Amino acid sequence: MTTKTNGQPFLSDVTELRRRAREEIEKGAITEDYALDPKQAIELLQIALATEIVCVLRYTMHSVAATGIASEGPKDEFAEHADEEREHMGMIAERINQLGGTPNFDPEGLATRAASQYGPGDLDLVAMIKENLIAERIAIAHYRELIHFFGEKDPTTRTMLEEILATEEEHANDMHDLLVAHEGKPMLSR
Ligand SMILES: [Fe+2]
Ligand SMILES: [Fe+2]
Repeated sequence: MTTKTNGQPFLSDVTELRRRAREEIEKGAITEDYALDPKQAIELLQIALATEIVCVLRYTMHSVAATGIASEGPKDEFAEHADEEREHMGMIAERINQLGGTPNFDPEGLATRAASQYGPGDLDLVAMIKENLIAERIAIAHYRELIHFFGEKDPTTRTMLEEILATEEEHANDMHDLLVAHEGKPMLSR
């Protein structure tokens, strides 16, 4: 027997929940009560995905291309960040998939889809650090906006974005410290 409250099936009615889950099975992780427009959610996450891919590429390039006696430490740091950006990339791609979308890894148009920039390839060490700090600050602002958007309506995505944001803040702090170590003064006041 289905329990009704104000004509609506009661949410804790297991039979009703099971029936709906079966009916909606083709929608994957998206249930009837998903409070956002999944298409819009996916579109926004595609931007975050492109941003992470660009960050993987930029940090990887810097980890290889940085030269000079002072570059050994920063090269390791760039490589470590590249790994962490790759993890973010995977998390976001998985979530897009769960929401019923196809993660967009198409290199065509990647730079224009991303919030952060790849930057020039022929930079000296300090300029590389600055590029990365700028990119991290863009990512931080972007994730803050996204967290606000997903809010209470999609707590799974929001929690994932909060985890990513915390790492981006560490990255920005790492780049800031590197900049101070290699240039002696902060580019941006805190
Ligand atoms: Fe990231
Ligand atoms: Fe980052």
